[in-house]
Amino acid sequence: MHRIVLKGRGDLAEWRDAARGLLARKVAPSDVEWLSAAAADDLFAGGFGEGRGAAAAYEPAPAAGATVTVPGAFMPLAETVLCHSDPQGFALLYRLLVRLQSDRRLLQVASDADVVLAHRLAKAVRRDSHKMTAFVRFKEVSLPPETVGRRRFLAWFEPDHFIVARMAPFFRRRFADMDWVIVTPKGSASWDGERLSVSDLPAEKPDLDDATDDLWRTYYAAIFNPARLKVGMMQKEMPKKYWKNLPEAALIPDLIASAERRVIEMAARAPTAAPAFHARIRAMEAAREQEDAAVLSGGAGGAATLPALRAEAATCTRCPIHCGATQTVFGEGPERADVMFVGEQPGDEEDLAGRPFIGPAGKVLTAAMQEAGLDRSRIYMTNAVKHFKYEPRGKRRIHQRPTSGEVEICRWWLSREIDLVQPKLIVALGATALLSLTGETGRLGDLRGRPLPMAEGRTLFVTVHPAYLLRIPDAARKAEEQAAFAADLRMVRGLLHGLNLDRPVGLQSTQRFEY
Ligand code: URA
Repeated sequence: MHRIVLKGRGDLAEWRDAARGLLARKVAPSDVEWLSAAAADDLFAGGFGEGRGAAAAYEPAPAAGATVTVPGAFMPLAETVLCHSDPQGFALLYRLLVRLQSDRRLLQVASDADVVLAHRLAKAVRRDSHKMTAFVRFKEVSLPPETVGRRRFLAWFEPDHFIVARMAPFFRRRFADMDWVIVTPKGSASWDGERLSVSDLPAEKPDLDDATDDLWRTYYAAIFNPARLKVGMMQKEMPKKYWKNLPEAALIPDLIASAERRVIEMAARAPTAAPAFHARIRAMEAAREQEDAAVLSGGAGGAATLPALRAEAATCTRCPIHCGATQTVFGEGPERADVMFVGEQPGDEEDLAGRPFIGPAGKVLTAAMQEAGLDRSRIYMTNAVKHFKYEPRGKRRIHQRPTSGEVEICRWWLSREIDLVQPKLIVALGATALLSLTGETGRLGDLRGRPLPMAEGRTLFVTVHPAYLLRIPDAARKAEEQAAFAADLRMVRGLLHGLNLDRPVGLQSTQRFEY
């Protein structure tokens, strides 16, 4: 019988060298007794004398033998199994190693008793490792006031297995910015900002107390949601054996016991009336209906000049989009203009500056207008919707298309602008403008690029929105679409030049848009 004594626990290199030596000498697994140094000490103390050094009386690990090859999955499995506190892992792994020499596919035999046992031990180690990541609680070590340098923290943890060395790199990554020591009955690890040290010597529980425990308990009680309590799940995830080292654990029985009562109280406190938000929306709708009725009947509410209308629009709360926007972005341009360009809604930059078409899409449009010979300063530029609708994502505000309901609500302002500016030609940029100006949805392609008659002798010209050009990823297609947009604007210029101010230019169209 060969008796092998391994000094460390969870030390793959030590076991591997011993196993290689045994394999080289063709020692059968049944002829080897594997012992940890502690177990050898105990055995020796019982039969041969006293003291740890006496373990040397056993056969030392044989020197490494010839190179041994194993399937790739074996070494990670062995590394994990060796951390298990059950020392039968040593023998089990040697048995597997010997068997793998003649059966390379052994680890794939899920029903094999040795394979099953190896996976069971490895799973227990992984679970213990996971619990360590969740339940280590550092306490600050109070240092004399004159101490300079980083704050120091100490944690006590009681793992089931020899996982400290295995988990130390995790804690170094996670708590790299503080000095810490984790002590356990199965070894310890420490980090001083430069060096990670591990030791397999067992430690005793230190006397730990930390003023922040009370703070932590207050926080834990405050975030504990009785309505989401699942006692079975909680006990599974936070087994009782860890409780004694968790400051919050003392609160748990009371929190569980009072959960049902607190849920009933919460339900009783829940509002029964409609939320205030709802009431606000309804009030806004009522105000808007009144305003519309007043304008339609020729009464108050219809500003007589563009500056007056702009001032009125500045306080618009007709739809919820205003809640997130910085300000109303009203139209801009001459009070009387032959041509009006209508976009969708202000973008991020327009929202901040309070002016339409000054952001990326506006720059594309202005350049294309210049190229087509259109003088932006003589054109009235506005939008179908006057507030910026977006979704916050991190620090960015991502454009969101307005709904048809929001477009309909904001049409009130656009129609007042058209009444006052009296354009002869209106250019709809994109689908939202088209919807607002005509009620048409999904026909941009059909209507694009030709003059169309509108009510009151106006002409409508439909083209794409400049932001569409910005979104085309393929360079060749982008160039094509830019050329088509430029051609559209040249046509607008042509229409402007040939504009007979007394009659619409869209004579060839059979469809007439009643605005
Ligand atoms: N897009 C629009 O439709 N309008 C603007 O003012 C800016 C971007």
